[in-house]
Formats: sequence, C-alpha cells, structure tokens
Amino acid sequence: MQEKWDALRRHWEGARLSELFARDPDRAKRHCVEVAGLRIDWSRQFLDSTTQQQLLALAGECGFGAQRQALFQGEVVNASEGRAALHMALRGPANRDWRVAGSSVSLAVEAELAHMEAFVAAVHAGQVKGATGAPIRDVVNIGIGGSHLGPEMLATALPAAKKAPRLHFLSNVDPAQSERILGSLDPAETLFIVVSKSFTSRETMINAGEARGWIARALGETAVVDHFAAVSTNEDKVRAFGICAERQFRFWDWVGGRYSLWSSAGLAAAVHLGMPRFHELLDGAAAMDRHFESAPDAENAPLMMGLLDLQSIMAFGWPAWAVVPYADSLRLLPDYFQQLVMESNGKGVTQTGGALIRQSGPLLLGGIGTDAQHAFFQLLHQGPLPVPVDFIAAARSGSQNESATRRHQVLLANCLAQAQALAEGRSEAAVRQAMEQAGLDAATIKSLAPQKRFPGNRPSNLLLMRELCPQSLGALIALYEHRVFVQACLLGINPFDQMGVELGKQLAREMEKRLGAEGREGSGDSAVAETITWLQQQWRE
Ligand code: F6P
Repeated sequence: MQEKWDALRRHWEGARLSELFARDPDRAKRHCVEVAGLRIDWSRQFLDSTTQQQLLALAGECGFGAQRQALFQGEVVNASEGRAALHMALRGPANRDWRVAGSSVSLAVEAELAHMEAFVAAVHAGQVKGATGAPIRDVVNIGIGGSHLGPEMLATALPAAKKAPRLHFLSNVDPAQSERILGSLDPAETLFIVVSKSFTSRETMINAGEARGWIARALGETAVVDHFAAVSTNEDKVRAFGICAERQFRFWDWVGGRYSLWSSAGLAAAVHLGMPRFHELLDGAAAMDRHFESAPDAENAPLMMGLLDLQSIMAFGWPAWAVVPYADSLRLLPDYFQQLVMESNGKGVTQTGGALIRQSGPLLLGGIGTDAQHAFFQLLHQGPLPVPVDFIAAARSGSQNESATRRHQVLLANCLAQAQALAEGRSEAAVRQAMEQAGLDAATIKSLAPQKRFPGNRPSNLLLMRELCPQSLGALIALYEHRVFVQACLLGINPFDQMGVELGKQLAREMEKRLGAEGREGSGDSAVAETITWLQQQWRE
C-alpha cells in the first residue's frame, strides 16, 4: 500500500494550495459541510478529484465500508479485547435497536440515562444530602484518563446549570492535587463520584481511598455511603468499596474509556450542565453519527478528513497534527483529543502483527488561540516539516455586549489570518522587495530575506460552530472519534485497545515496592538502582 501513498506524494510535488483555489472558485463550497451547527471546511487540504478517487479507492481496498458497518452493528471490532465499540448507542436515537453481538442494548442505555436524570435532578433540587443533612454543594469527580478528561473538558467548555453544585476534578496521585482540592471543601457538603471503568486504576483507587478517609475522619465511617457515588463496569468492586446500589451508575465493556463521555462516565458533566443540555450534547453527536453512516463519500466529513489526515502522515511524512481552538472555554479540548487520537492510534503494529513502516496515528499538540500563536506557531510557519492544523472557533461570543463582540471579532480575525498565512506564506522575492523598498542594504537583505520567508503551502481545516453549544460540541467530538476510526481502518490497527500503557503500570507497582523498602533488589538497570539509592538518601537526611 505504501506505493500508493508514494504515488500521492509524487502527484502533489511542486503543487501550491493557492493554485487549487485559483483554479476552482467553488473549492471552498465543495469541501465544506454543516452538521448540527458545526461548519466543517477541509478545502485547505491537498485534495483534487484524482486524489479524492485514490483516497476513496484506498478506503475501499481496506474494507472501510464493511468495517464501518461492523462498528455500527455492534460487532467485535476491538478484536484484542473481544469487544464491540458501540459508543454511538449511548447517544441514540432511542428508537433504533442498537445491538451488541446480537443482543439489544437500547433499553439498558435508556434505563441508565433515566438513573442519571433522577440523580442530577435531585442534586439540583438540594435533595441529595450529606450525612449531617446538609445539601451537597461540591461534587468531586475522582478518575483519570477517559474517566476525567471528557467530563472536565465539558464542564470547562459549557456554562453551569443554575442550580448546579461546584465541580472539582481529582485525577493525579500527586498529593498536592488532593490537598489543594480537599483543603477548600467542607466534608459535610461534598459528594465524590468515583469514575473508573475497571475500578482498579491505581491513581483513582488511591485518591478514592484518601477521600473516603477524609469523610470518615470528619463525619464518621457510617457517613461514607452518603458522600459517594460510583460509575463503573465493575459492580463487585464498587460494592466492596461501600457504595450503595442506588448510587452505582453502570456502563458496559463495549464503551471504551476514551469514548465513555456519553455514558454515565459523563455524570459529573451532566450534573454541571443539567440533563436537558446533556441530551443536546448526545443529539449533536448522534447527528454526526448519522452523517458518518450515510453521507456520500465525497461529502462525508469524518471519512474525507480521516483520509486526508493519513495522506499527511503516509504520503507526505508529516508526523504531527495541531488542534487550536480559538475559544478560552475550549482550552481542555486539545488534551481530550490527545487521549482520543494518540491512545487510539499510537500503535506500531497492525491487527495481524505486521509492523507499520511509518508512524501510525499522528502526534497531537495543541493550545488555545491566540495564546498558541505566541508559543508554538513559529514552528508551524517556518519549521521545515509542515504540521496540519485544525482551527476551531465559534461565530458568536458568549457575551453579547458591544466590547465583547468587537474583541471576539479580533479573535476570529486572528484565527482566519493564521490559516491564510499558513496556506499562502510569503515568498523570498516578496520579502526582498519589501526590504528594498524600506531602503535596507544588500548585505542585510541577503542574510535576512531567507529568515523572513514563509514557505506557506501548509494545510489546515476550519471548524466553525454557529455558537459554542452542546449540540455543536457533541458533533465536533464525534467527528474526531470517527476520523480516528477511519485512520485506524486504513492503517489496519485496532483503535480501541491501549496495550502500550500496561508495562509502565506494572513497573510502577514494582518501583513502589522498591521505593518503600530500603535497598531492596529488583529488576531494572543501574540507572534505576542509583536513582533509588539517591532518593532514599534524600529521605534519610
Ligand atoms: O490510560 C489507560 C486507561 O486504561 C485509559 O484508557 C482509561 O481511560 C484510563 O486508563 C482510566 O481507566 P479506568 O476508567 O478503568 O480507571
């Protein structure tokens, strides 16, 4: 297959994005669709009718159509773990009979949504009370990875419902984090939601144990039941922790951790948003699912963008991808997408064990605009290797006053300017001419002109929401999920497992023991032994 990617590279040698626009006045319209208030524009990519045909042919050769069907039909697409990946069932539509391995899951999904709904309503009504009878005013989500990044990203992105409690996120095992969070809270008014698909993640279980001790010390051991809820697929472990059935929210092994935002793993976000807006989020994602399942190939945003992502990696050899939201409230989105993209597709072998010649999924970096322009954009403009960028923004600002509207326009102007600058660049001849006109001497022009040149010809996508609302954000996240799936289909990898995180987890348990017992022998090289000796010396002093 690599020879086909190489043919695409040769096809684009010497081409300029600006020429593609000059040749086709309808280009921007042709490669742009709108789904759930999200305008998705991939016109600034190296795409023409020949490439489109070749990319779709590659998708056909990989059996993309059948793989997409298997995904939506709840077949075992996560072969290494023997599981389906039917996160689409969590966002409806409710009248479709979603099936995993032939068995309907729609009723179970509905029942869990109703369970969430009752809980969220009770929290907002002040009916969820702590052991002393005080209503809950602070909710702490304890979880890591997929059990943290999504809920916190949503709670940062979208405003809180009127009666929502304050929300906190405890993910890191670093004691500084729990001390900072718990230090500001009153145990009598605090509820912990322990979110862990496995209910075994070391960081989460340590933090949950700390929180349990904090409640028990302040309010007595019997208070624990009133101050904890859990979200997990592991019901036995949740019960063993002391959390009652009524406060136990379920999800299923066919929901991957990084795809679990839509399930009860998103409970903290639902508490923050209120259930009607959580449903709007699900609706937006469901609209993207329908688009991905049924839009014609050339207009299918996740399909085309996933294929173009791979063209950047496999044909052009560009290993990175930048995601830059021009919206302060989307500042956690790059972190969220980092797990989605890199934990899903950061693999070195195919599902049949064959080695991948090039990097697999891209390396994702990000930050918010305009701040990122003053951080890593220098490399995007003039670094030798192009980094395709996703620019994300909302047409309207959250605030309606005149000053905010004007500043929002400045923000959008920067977003559009960066995309244009990356695409067009500035030639050395233009730089020289400007310097000559400014009266600079020949020696200065000779040394500075190459440094002031912008190569341009750097692709980007523009993702614009009419406004930053749950529907459009749901559609945006689902777009990325399906793009990642398309990338994986073509690479022949399993995007739904994450074996690469296991070795570090195992070794950390061993290191814990060695750090605890002075001088204890163990595996590892002399760098480990010397470091442990040095650390133990520090602790003795
Ligand atoms: O990082 C590995 C991982 O398994 C992620 O895939 C997952 O989101 C995270 O750990 C947390 O896992 P759990 O929800 O089981 O605690």
